Amino acid sequence: MRHLISIADLSNDEIEEIFALADSTDELRTEKPATGQIMATLFYEPSTRTRLSFESAMQRLGGSVISCSDMKSSSTAKGETIADTAKVVSSYADVLVVRHHWDGAVQAMAEHADVPVINAGDGGHEHPTQTLCDLYTLRKEKGGLKGLTVVICGDLKNGRTIHSLVFALARFGANVVTLAANGMALPQYVIEGLEREYGYGLMPVAADDLSAVVTETDALYLTPKQPHQLALFTQVDEVIQARLSSMATGLRYDAFYMTRKQKERMKDGTAGNYPTIGANFLREQRFQDTVVMHPLPRVDELSPEVDKDRRGIYFKQAAYGVPVRMALLKFLFDRQEKQSSKPKKSVVYESPETIGPHCRNPNCVTLNEPISTRRKFRILSPDDGGAWLLACLYCDHRSKVQYIGNAKSKRYSSFDPGLVNSLREWLNKGELSIFDTIKEAEELGYEPTKSGPQRVLMNEAEINKALVDIATQILRDCQNPDRLLILGVRSVGAQLAQRLAQEIEKQRQRRPELGEIEIFGAGEELRRVSPTDADAGPLNLKDREVILVDDVLYTGRTVKSALSIIFRSGRPQSVRLAVLVDRGHREVPVRPNYVGKNIPSAENERVRVKLRGLDQETGDQAVMYSIENAAGTAASLSAAEGAVASR
Ligand code: CP
Repeated sequence: MRHLISIADLSNDEIEEIFALADSTDELRTEKPATGQIMATLFYEPSTRTRLSFESAMQRLGGSVISCSDMKSSSTAKGETIADTAKVVSSYADVLVVRHHWDGAVQAMAEHADVPVINAGDGGHEHPTQTLCDLYTLRKEKGGLKGLTVVICGDLKNGRTIHSLVFALARFGANVVTLAANGMALPQYVIEGLEREYGYGLMPVAADDLSAVVTETDALYLTPKQPHQLALFTQVDEVIQARLSSMATGLRYDAFYMTRKQKERMKDGTAGNYPTIGANFLREQRFQDTVVMHPLPRVDELSPEVDKDRRGIYFKQAAYGVPVRMALLKFLFDRQEKQSSKPKKSVVYESPETIGPHCRNPNCVTLNEPISTRRKFRILSPDDGGAWLLACLYCDHRSKVQYIGNAKSKRYSSFDPGLVNSLREWLNKGELSIFDTIKEAEELGYEPTKSGPQRVLMNEAEINKALVDIATQILRDCQNPDRLLILGVRSVGAQLAQRLAQEIEKQRQRRPELGEIEIFGAGEELRRVSPTDADAGPLNLKDREVILVDDVLYTGRTVKSALSIIFRSGRPQSVRLAVLVDRGHREVPVRPNYVGKNIPSAENERVRVKLRGLDQETGDQAVMYSIENAAGTAASLSAAEGAVASR
């Protein structure tokens, strides 16, 4: 049985097949291939286009529609679960079309339904049928998708249409320019997916290229097979900046895809500058062939002036909803018995234990209605070593694997790249336990692996001296210390950043602003730590001198992810990198500006910075472990060597 939950559920060939069907809807209206079939529409959130165009499509195919006018007047109001609703309604209908306010809710319903389920929008996650309409419109207007450059504008963080669209554009070889409203940049998991799956990289667009749309927001160009220019340099000096800017100047923009601010998904206010398209845009010579798209509804980000212009094609885009959804329904009915042809590349992980990892996205269905879901994840394990990520199977949000254990030996340890062979073996045998915290492992009776012999690389006094020296060097290099921002990578880097800020305060009697970055974590990616003034608003990076702080520089990939978050959140004047320990194994050409200690080390050695107050550490130390023979000893997780926390 075929469901459509994500745009990734359709291959490019299948999308082309749907478009070919959409081109011949006159024949479908005559054939009426859905005669005798019933579609149920379950909309837990408001809709005009998606719902009515699906209902119209079904009726034009000869089928009929049952519906709840308002899900609040269904048994949902009495507390019925989405699982039970899906099971019951799938015995009344041949296809379910569902919109829900929780990310991943439609996937959960598909797991309990006996008929195909179509995602008509799940929280801030995906809206794949809107993307089919968008691609169909672009293809009609521009003749194809490959090589197009599409600017996506507005609320890229919460806009579910955007999350489906960018992946589809990447798959068809289009370039994407992101022009996000302040604080509404594409989520890191989307950027990470584009990079991992399609080799897309980020570079800045020259500031005045898009000034007709907005002046305060930075644009970024996402394009395939380009070096990750922006992310490689920690010191963006003027020469490099000019070179980078010139690389994305004078782009030909084929389409502007505008989105509204998704106020219903925002907890903390909606104030601030928001891109708009109006008369200025229409007058710009460079946009004379640029079509303007919008999934609608619009609020005030798209002026009605554009309605009269040939480039405003959003009503056409909405009208294509009927032929595209007719084609999709016909496609799914034809394939009821067939398996998805989508290649399944990643491994699905379910913990053998009752306690285990949780999705960190507070709007995920797994947290809001656990009874209808199972804790399932895709494991993203880079071939070349490095951290493992868990991607929630329902909402796709990602988190780092923190603690691992063996369900048979009941031993646990921190994740270590040196253990991956053993972890893969345990995964195959169903013995791999993953925990978010030590407490979870210990509640289940797991015992920690004993630490192996350690070599102290830096003691407390050396760490303190290194921080004093780094603070002095930062102040020496800084052009305007009043605008300095110290940004630590959570959690050890953030702790070091705090100490650096204290040291800088000692040296100049004024404390710099302090923030932290969380990569694949539970909360905001970027947040202010101090001052804690509630009126201070979100961290502003624009034209600031930023010092990025981390404990150990190993492959450079963490720094690269942090830089990507920084540059998506605002264009700083410069970013300099401070690390306590540089191990000399960089795979990404980042260049640290401030180093506490260079420690050339073997691949199979692990370095850990332990700080007082973190993870119950009683003092400051940088230590090194050897993980030789890790595969053998770690396989039972009972030996002394190997399974130790590392970076
Ligand atoms: N584009 C879109 O999803 O519109 P509705 O919310 O009206 O369905």
